[in-house]
Amino acid sequence: MKQHTAQHLTWHQMEITRDRREQQLGQKAVTIWLTGLSGSGKSTLANALEQYLAAHGKHTMLLDGDNVRMGLNRDLGFGEKDRMENIRRIAQVAKLMNDAGLIVLTSFISPYRKDREMAREIIGGCFVEVYVSTPLEECERRDVKGLYKAARKGEIAEFTGITSAYEAPDAPQAVIDTSGRSIGECVAELAAALEANWIK
Ligand code: ADX
Repeated sequence: MKQHTAQHLTWHQMEITRDRREQQLGQKAVTIWLTGLSGSGKSTLANALEQYLAAHGKHTMLLDGDNVRMGLNRDLGFGEKDRMENIRRIAQVAKLMNDAGLIVLTSFISPYRKDREMAREIIGGCFVEVYVSTPLEECERRDVKGLYKAARKGEIAEFTGITSAYEAPDAPQAVIDTSGRSIGECVAELAAALEANWIK
């Protein structure tokens, strides 16, 4: 892909600021970035957490791996470069939504530490990393989409956890293992952690 540099461009300062939008919505914008293996429970958790937040009057938006890859990122595959571009675009979208005052939840494997650091840099101080740490054995046992089985048979290349690396976060803001626990339990724990620090 040809890289275009941001030359001959001028940043326009908008009069309606993030602060003002946040005030209007009565909340602080934040991005809750869920990372973990395929089948770890990210999307289910993000979905349930969003329902919880909406029920508490919060204005939210959820960005999900499979969905975004069917639209905005349909041109991207699963090699290292494409995964990085996937994360870069998602981080830029999350930032825009934060600028609109929204609480953003993202659900992407985002397997590489450097890419999550890039997301943190793009999104800024309101980036909250949540590691969904459900172990590979459990994700593979669930195999909701049948992808692990296919990957073991060699039918899917570069499958995270099997033939492609997953680098666990060193210092995430929250860690949650969904093995053997109900979704309600997991959401309650995560919501409590978020409400203590990032979502008022
Ligand atoms: S990421 O690694 O680039 O962050 P993302 O979260 O967007 O991945 O997409 C992951 C989803 O794509 C998985 O949940 C799975 O359904 C599907 N998928 C298809 N091929 C692969 C692959 N090679 N590795 C991981 N996930 C894959």
